[in-house]
Parts: sequence; structure tokens; C-alpha cells
Amino acid sequence: FPRERIRNFCIIAHVDHGKTTLSDRLLQMTGTVAENKMKEQILDSMDLERERGITIKAHPVTMIYYFPEEKEHYQLNLIDTPGHVDFSYEVSRSLSACEGALLVIDATQGIQAQTVSNAFLAEKHRLVLIPVINKIDLPTANLTLVKKQLEDSLAIPADEAIATSAKEGIGIDQIFKAIIQKIPPPPSFPDQILRALIFDSVYDPYKGVILYVRMFSGKVKKGDKILLLSSNKTYEVKEVGVFCPKMVPEEALYEGNSGYIIANIKNTAEIKIGDTLTWETGGTTTALPGFQEISPMVFSGIYPLNSSEFEKLKNAIQKLQINDPAITISPESSVALGSGFRCGFLGLLHMEIVQQRLSREYGVDIITTYPSVIYKVSLRSGKTIEVDNPAKLPDPSYIDHIAEPYVKSYLIVPSENIGEVMQLISEKRGSCESTESLGHDKVIMHCYFPLNEILVDFNDKLKSITHGYGSMDYTPDEYRISDLVKLDILVNGEPIEALSCIVHSSKAESRGRSIIHKLKERIPRHLFKIALQAAVGGKILAREDIGAIGKNVTAKCYGGDITRKRKLLEKQKEGKKRMKTFGKVDIPQDAFLEILKTD
Ligand code: GTP
Repeated sequence: FPRERIRNFCIIAHVDHGKTTLSDRLLQMTGTVAENKMKEQILDSMDLERERGITIKAHPVTMIYYFPEEKEHYQLNLIDTPGHVDFSYEVSRSLSACEGALLVIDATQGIQAQTVSNAFLAEKHRLVLIPVINKIDLPTANLTLVKKQLEDSLAIPADEAIATSAKEGIGIDQIFKAIIQKIPPPPSFPDQILRALIFDSVYDPYKGVILYVRMFSGKVKKGDKILLLSSNKTYEVKEVGVFCPKMVPEEALYEGNSGYIIANIKNTAEIKIGDTLTWETGGTTTALPGFQEISPMVFSGIYPLNSSEFEKLKNAIQKLQINDPAITISPESSVALGSGFRCGFLGLLHMEIVQQRLSREYGVDIITTYPSVIYKVSLRSGKTIEVDNPAKLPDPSYIDHIAEPYVKSYLIVPSENIGEVMQLISEKRGSCESTESLGHDKVIMHCYFPLNEILVDFNDKLKSITHGYGSMDYTPDEYRISDLVKLDILVNGEPIEALSCIVHSSKAESRGRSIIHKLKERIPRHLFKIALQAAVGGKILAREDIGAIGKNVTAKCYGGDITRKRKLLEKQKEGKKRMKTFGKVDIPQDAFLEILKTD
């Protein structure tokens, strides 16, 4: 295909607005998949993805479209993107491989938070946006309102919007026409040097690493010696091809194409997504834009529920990491939970998906600890260290200040809920910078939050306040200095490291109270009084006591029935096994679980 008749585009949308259905429709109308063969949703391959309705991995698909107006065939490369910003690095790299994007909006729901954040991302990548208002077959579709929202919030002229029903196949020809006429063909590099952007990779047990590439210039074929710019490693190409949507080997890939390259790459850890691939000799030395080091933002401990399953967990996590290099792992052990791993994730959703895959696909029962972000701790010595685990926070006397990561967030909520949402924002130490109306009954709120505050229950609370009509999305922002402290939990004066946490000083007391309250409910009475305390830097913020029991458990048996007495003692021993002893106090494992677990 000549460059002028190639288009590379992606579809961006809020969850459930119809991205997958529309993709399927495009594949079907170009004959890329026969209708009877078409599984319901080809692009979402993983079970879990389908269940959750979230596309995680980006798959490119090549379609050949006959454009009747010009009596010409076009090569259309659809690059799939995940919808959620947890995967914004994946969204970004998919966008770097395109010149345009279809922005799909559900006509019954209107613009949602992810519509806005995705549209901003696409604009940042200078993509041509084609607004598509989908689901117009539904009686509750409100085209006028969505068009007004497009103009108000995204400054997209309403008359550019294409009204479609991906389900019924309405308006699809107009989409093809817009892709051809509005999205520019791939740019050209006159020097014809090989430049390809690696925008994704998967690991195949038989073929090794499969690189998903977007060709920007030159050509690549079997036998070529290639170089990856950032790692400076060289490989020999074994196979190149395109996805239709299955892998189809080709003689060569040319400028403008999207497809795959298989070289003798053994491990996904050897490559970096966003890297530029060129010739080993005579290649380019300048990387294509789009390279972004991926770094985890949220950390949590993962432990086997049953310590004998540690090896099983280890294997499972390592396997997961092969196909998802965004997960970081390091061994960790905790007095309360035994041996496990400290894992880093891109965001909350990513963490949740990994946890579910561990238990579902690999059958390991796991305990996950309360998530944490990375704090930048500036020491009095002038050094700055990064801390993702409260146990590693230095003594306060060494600390000058602590900074925490903030996110920029978009909330879209019904106007009538603004008051309550404002309250939630302030509870979460957030700030609302500006509010714009979106049509007559919704507003978009531009906010900033400490990431730490929205990790656990923010989304649930937002949904509950707005009866499900609110949505939120976020992108990482800068670090800001905050008044953060380490909250210690003491049992009879002894600090329990596993229960320490880093909190904002304004929340230390309430968090402390809640933890010792849970402990009090779960620690059995002992022969002596037990003091439970929450403290910051030696200052006690909260205290509860567990009173002593004077007698031993067998006392009430009068020494009479010996079997009963033995039974009681055995029962007590059983209970002891599951206890961790601190000082002289036995704390049941479930007390730790109750405090440490996230759900
Ligand atoms: P994620 O993969 O979760 O991001 O969702 P998606 O944007 O890919 O949405 P998907 O295509 O899975 O569609 C979500 C739901 O909307 C499905 O139940 C579809 O059947 C339905 N749907 C999609 N397009 C249309 C349409 O044009 N009309 C109607 N009535 N329903 C549609």
C-alpha cells in the first residue's frame, strides 16, 4: 500500500460506551472477520477483561477497506487502547502509533470522566479526533445534549459528530469516510532509514517475545539485523507480519504499517515499550517521540494466605510479570504475615486486576496489605529517599520534610450533587480548581488530590453520592510537600511494625482510633491488662485497654471431668497456633488481617 492510502487510528472511549462493539463492526464490514466466525468481542481476549469490560492489552488489527467514492482500497490499522487511565501509559503509547482517533461517546450517558481525560491525551499527541456518538438506537439517546457537551467541554464543533449505532450497524460508512478524509496519512521520512515504534509486546512460549510495532520509515524483513535504541541491544528478525486479526506473516513491513516483529528476544524484560527499533548498521540515533519509562505508582504487600503456598505464589507472580512488565516485585517478609512480596502497580485498577488474576488463574489464596504510594522523604542530611513502605521510614528526627504524589483528576457529576461531592473532595484533602457545566444537569470538576487519599474508597463513595451517575479519572501530577507522619500502634508499649502506616497528621488520630478499636475486638483477654495505643513520634493519640481475666480457662471445671479439661486445653492450644506473640500478648492472625487487608 502506498503511504497515502494507509491510516493508523485508535478508538478511545469511557468504559462501556461501545468501543469493542464498534471495533467488531469495523472488522466485520471490512470482511476482516466473517460475521458467522465473529466471536462476540474479538479484541478483548482475556476472560477477566471481558468480565470486567476493560481492555488491558493493546492489539493492532489491519483492515482493507474499499472506499467506493474513490474506487480505491485503503489499509486501515486499528490500534486498540485501554480505556482506563490506570493504563494511561498504554493509552499514550497506542496514541503515539496513530495519526487519529475515534472518540466514542454513549448517546444515553454523555461525556464521562474518561472521555475527557482520553480526549486531552489524544490532543497532547496531536491526533485528529473524530467524535462518534454511539447507541443512537436507544430510546433514551440524547444527541442534542451530547453535541452541546462536546462543544462546551471539549471545544469540538457539534456538526463534526457522527451519530452511530455500533450494535445496529448505523452510521458506520460515515466513520470509514471520516477516517479516510480527516485523518492524515502517515508522515514520510525521505531518508528511508528503518524507524519503528515498539508500542506493545506479548510473550509467546513458542515464539518468544512478539513486538507490536508501528513503522514510521524504511522497511524491515526476515534476516534483518535490528537495534533497539534505548537498550542498545541487537537482534536478528525471524518473522514479520500483520494482525488480521490473527497473526499473518508478511514478506516485509513498510513505512506507515502497523504489525509485529519476532526476533530472537527471549524475555520481555529485555525490551522497553515506546523504544525505537532501527538497523544495526546505518540506523537512526534519534528516538521517535513516545518513549515513557513506566513506573509503578501504588504498592502493596502480597502474601499467601497459607504460608505453605509461598512457592506457588512466587511462581504465579513471576509468570504474570512476563506478560505485564509494569508489575514490579521484591521479596518482603512481615512478622504478622510471613514471607511474601512487595509489588508495585500502575494504579488501583491494575492492582485489583493482578490480585484477581493471581487467585483466579493461578489458584493462590492471597492476602494483600493496605496500598501505599511512593513518598519522597528529604532528610536533614540533604539526601532524599523514596519510601513505599512505612516500615522503611527513618526516625522523625532525621526527616526534614516529606512529599507525596498528587494526581490531577476530572470528576463528572450531576449538578444536584455538587455540595456533597465538594465535601468528599475536602475529606480526601483534595481541591477543586474549577467547575464547568456540561449541558444543563452535569458539571465537570477539575480537581487535585493526594493519590494516597483516593486509593481505597474514593470511587465507591463518589458512585454512592451520585447514585452511580458520577465518574472520575486521573493523571499523575507533581509531588507536593505535606504534613505526613508515621502512625505507630503499640501493644503494652511495644510497637507493632506491621501495623504502622504513613498518614496525614490531620488523620492520624482517627486512623489510630479505628485500628486500635479493631484490635480490641479481636485480641482475647489475657491474665493481665493490655494497653493498646496509637502514637505519633512518641505522642499518644488514642488508647484503649483490654481488661484482665483473673482465672484460667479450666478453673470452672472444678478439676472434675478430666476429658473436658483436656479438650479445653487443646482448644486453647489450637488457638495459640494462630497467634503471634508480641511481648507477652498473643494477637490472633485475623486481627492483623482485619487491619491490613484492603477489602
Ligand atoms: P469496555 O471494553 O468496557 O471499555 O467497553 P466498550 O467501550 O468496549 O463497550 P462495549 O462495546 O463492550 O459495549 C458496552 C455495552 O453497550 C454492550 O452491552 C454492548 O452490547 C452495548 N452497545 C454497544 N454499542 C451499542 C449500540 O450502538 N447500541 C446499543 N443499544 N447498545 C450498544
